[in-house]
Amino acid sequence: MRSLPAGRSSPSPSQKGKNDRRGFHHLSGRGVFLSKPLIFPPVKISAVGTYVPERVMTNDELSLSLDTSDEWISSRSGIRERHIAENGQAASDMGAIAARRALAAAEASPGDIDLIIVASLSPDMIFPPTASFISGAIGANGTPAFDLSAACTGFIYALAAGSSFIASGQAERVLVVGAEAVSKMIDWADRSTAVLFGDGAGAVLLEPASGEGEGIIGFDLGNDPEGADLLDLPAGGSRLPASRETIENRLHFLKMNGREVFKFATRIIVSSARKVLAEHGLRVEDVDLFVPHQANIRIIDTAARKLGIPPERVFSNLERYGNTSCASIPLCLDEAAAAGRLGGGSLALMVGFGAGLSWGSCLARFDELKRAT
Ligand code: UT7
Repeated sequence: MRSLPAGRSSPSPSQKGKNDRRGFHHLSGRGVFLSKPLIFPPVKISAVGTYVPERVMTNDELSLSLDTSDEWISSRSGIRERHIAENGQAASDMGAIAARRALAAAEASPGDIDLIIVASLSPDMIFPPTASFISGAIGANGTPAFDLSAACTGFIYALAAGSSFIASGQAERVLVVGAEAVSKMIDWADRSTAVLFGDGAGAVLLEPASGEGEGIIGFDLGNDPEGADLLDLPAGGSRLPASRETIENRLHFLKMNGREVFKFATRIIVSSARKVLAEHGLRVEDVDLFVPHQANIRIIDTAARKLGIPPERVFSNLERYGNTSCASIPLCLDEAAAAGRLGGGSLALMVGFGAGLSWGSCLARFDELKRAT
């Protein structure tokens, strides 16, 4: 971990929301722009590794225990199957495998990493951080490691945090992991949520970028607390500690107002994508690959249509994984790299959204994204 270089101090209250004389853009209170100069020196997503559990659960299998059908699930969400963690297999178990694979792809060792950030809405425990378990599993003893909680947007927030550590000179290589065992948080008697989620993990390595044709260009991050009750897991925290009553009322499971989250998602993907593109002088036509959070194919299609992104530039693998929350975007990045769709300076637009209600977009160019084979 490096110390903060001289001359990089916090913004004064009067600077907030404005670019200062060095071109740094500070928290505006209405979403965050990390404008181009802040990602300096440039930072790239250099390698990716992923893992999904072996067990596959199809829609037909779900319809044996729930009042649902393959027809309903696939037509309303686009999901056909999902991977489900074994009993005793926690988020960190999957995250550690993904992390090892990302390091192998980069030909890096745990000792090369300056920081580990883990995003998850299904952490192993409330504390210690899941990052601590992943650090132990990969042999990164002594390396700073923390969890970042921003629900399904966590991976994008973690990219923003990690790249800021590098840009500020406090770290050179950051491992960002999205790891989810959402199946453990699901009420398997609630058909409105049980059919939507899946388990898995994805990890990426962030490091300084060299040339023009690669690197993270910028972020748009935001949160709307008015929608905090639309998607939550009510019990088990300090607001409503676990008790016989919370268990009987099934309050230790994920709850969602799907219809309202759907409306939010289609609106926010479009506005956030437009905002980050405009901030960096880019147009929708410049985007080579749109990589949205994988929650519902109708959300993805609606947002892409409103943005004017043609289907061949939209990446989706939701059909095979369901909504894997913080793992969904790295799972897409891995498959996109395998398909040769992230290279040669191609511009990717990643957009996440989820509980909070939170959202985050990241624009990045890829010269090459190394992946574990
Ligand atoms: O990571 C981010 C978090 N999540 C999301 O982004 C999810 C956003 N929301 C959605 O994807 C969609 O709203 C859902 C897939 C959750 C639901 O689709 P919908 O078209 O909005 O359906 P709905 O909630 O309006 O429900 C329509 C009907 C209801 O029956 P009635 O009231 O019309 O008789 C539901 O009870 O479908 C019923 N239903 C089901 N039927 C069969 C709900 N779930 C199921 C099910 N199988 N699994």
